[in-house]
Amino acid sequence: MLSLIYDPDLFTLKLDFCSIFLCAVLKLNHHPFRAHFLRSCCPLFLTSFQSSLLLLNASSEENPEFWRSQAQKTLQSVLDRKLNTNVAKNILFFLGDGMGITTYTAARILKGQLQNQTGEETVMTMDTFPNVGLAKTYSVDFQIPDSAATATAYLCGVKTNLNVIGVSAAARNGVCKSQKGNEVTSILKWAKDAGKSVGIVTTTRVQHATPATSYAHSASRKWYSDADMPDAAKRDGCTDIASQLLKNTDIDVIIGGGRKYMTPKGTKDPEYPRDYSSRGKRKDGRNLINEWQSMKIGKVAHYVWNKTDFDAVDPETTDYLMALFEPGDLRFEAERDPNMDPSIVETTEKAIRILQKNPKGFFLLVEGGRIDQAHHAGRAFMALHETVAFDYAIAKGLELTKEQETLTIVMADHSHPVTFNGYPFRGQSILGKSPLWATDMLPYTTLMYGNGPGHKITNGKRPDIRNVNTKTKDYVQLSAVPTESATHSGEDVAVLARGPMGHLFQGVQEQNYIAHAMAYAACVGADQRHCPFFSANTIDLTPLVTSGKSEVRVIEERNTSAGWMCQCGFLQSILSRF
Ligand SMILES: *[C@@H]1O[C@H](CO)[C@@H](O)[C@H](O)[C@H]1NC(C)=O
Ligand SMILES: *[C@@H]1O[C@H](CO)[C@@H](O)[C@H](O)[C@H]1NC(C)=O
Ligand SMILES: [Zn+2]
Repeated sequence: MLSLIYDPDLFTLKLDFCSIFLCAVLKLNHHPFRAHFLRSCCPLFLTSFQSSLLLLNASSEENPEFWRSQAQKTLQSVLDRKLNTNVAKNILFFLGDGMGITTYTAARILKGQLQNQTGEETVMTMDTFPNVGLAKTYSVDFQIPDSAATATAYLCGVKTNLNVIGVSAAARNGVCKSQKGNEVTSILKWAKDAGKSVGIVTTTRVQHATPATSYAHSASRKWYSDADMPDAAKRDGCTDIASQLLKNTDIDVIIGGGRKYMTPKGTKDPEYPRDYSSRGKRKDGRNLINEWQSMKIGKVAHYVWNKTDFDAVDPETTDYLMALFEPGDLRFEAERDPNMDPSIVETTEKAIRILQKNPKGFFLLVEGGRIDQAHHAGRAFMALHETVAFDYAIAKGLELTKEQETLTIVMADHSHPVTFNGYPFRGQSILGKSPLWATDMLPYTTLMYGNGPGHKITNGKRPDIRNVNTKTKDYVQLSAVPTESATHSGEDVAVLARGPMGHLFQGVQEQNYIAHAMAYAACVGADQRHCPFFSANTIDLTPLVTSGKSEVRVIEERNTSAGWMCQCGFLQSILSRF
């Protein structure tokens, strides 16, 4: 009987006497802490429960000294922190699409559990960032935003309307004419204009909302290729997102999916030649991959579509890389073919190694783009595994860069209606079920959705999941309300920062503030107050930042000169023309 109540994978005990007792107690629905009540009422159960746990550290956690010394260590490391006011040479910007705080916490637990830990105490790489703030994500027209409006906020510094990319809120969704004159540029362009190398890495198609906003202006996020545009928009002079990938900013590294938007209609996909839906989409007959290659003549530029060729790309000798691993979005990490497609860790590493050759530094956007798509499908397993992979990519980013000179940001664009509920025991699978039944005498999963495709009510009852394995990759969690796809949700998202001027990313801020703070920190874009006196892109008199102690000293001197520079705006504007 007990095995009906407790997650069978974790709690294999069969204590019939105890379970009968528990079932009786379960009827006392009003008690808010039944789990604790049960434990204290049933010592036999408690003992068995503990011995069945994966807890490696239970005994140390019972000792108050464990918590005191851990907290003291944390306190000391916070006290030892020094303000890093350097000019950021590099910006490493990690964007978890749809990675709300619930997803973040749940992924942390999963990450630990995949290493056979209880999970809750796991320290993710993102957890180590010293600065944390919250961003308010609403768009100009909606309380709950989409990835296009939010990307325009955090990349271009301007809040806008749902579904539009790189244009202000004066533009209207889908109306080409309203786009003209309302374009806003992104920090990727500001960084390129300042002489840095720039790149995008995503797990979606590279024309998808988040990466697209770094290089395109479009009244609709859906204008992936010209075939996706209404004739009126084409007549009015708007162009598709894929074509803007080649046109607007000279991007050094482009990694993701989206081959089919680059080739003429009917072009067979090299990986899926028999699949009709994978074929080229373009009506204008252009082959943007070929065009891109011919634009790069005289440079070392590689286009690759599979892992063999990707692995062969030598970052030391490569100027440009375009890697498109799928006709559309990449596969979920849990379903990826490791022989054909690299992981987000591998793509992040390759991008950084190519970009960091530039002595003036780089801007790299790395998007964990499918956390969102998994949540839309109500598949918590996939969303969390995508997030864990994303955290490993962040770890790779930190490993390859120096905190003194690299501003690393981790944030989400918006959240999802996934909830983390019940009273699961410590160490219980994050993809498991509530140990205690609901009032309908059925268990429920720890993670559930407010809306989404997982809604099922038959004869007034929820599905009975007692014998269902909820930890499989295809399991769709229950949702309260039926929608074909889960929506986004509107609560604030976390912003984590590390490196030069990381302390700017604190407090509760509007999401469009992020672009301004990043640009200030790296001395790119219009606000030049944090720039060294002789900025690297104007006059090459100051030696560029090297490494070690001298680097800090050089930068401090620069900061001092920047102090009076800010009072002489006219001088700056003259200098920056050189
Ligand atoms: C976790 O435990 C399982 C089952 O005992 C084992 O197969 C797996 O290798 C372990 N994983 C780690 C990271 O230790
Ligand atoms: C990878 O792409 C190259 C270039 O198109 C091709 O020659 C090679 O066969 C591909 N490798 C695999 C494993 O498909
Ligand atoms: Zn979404």
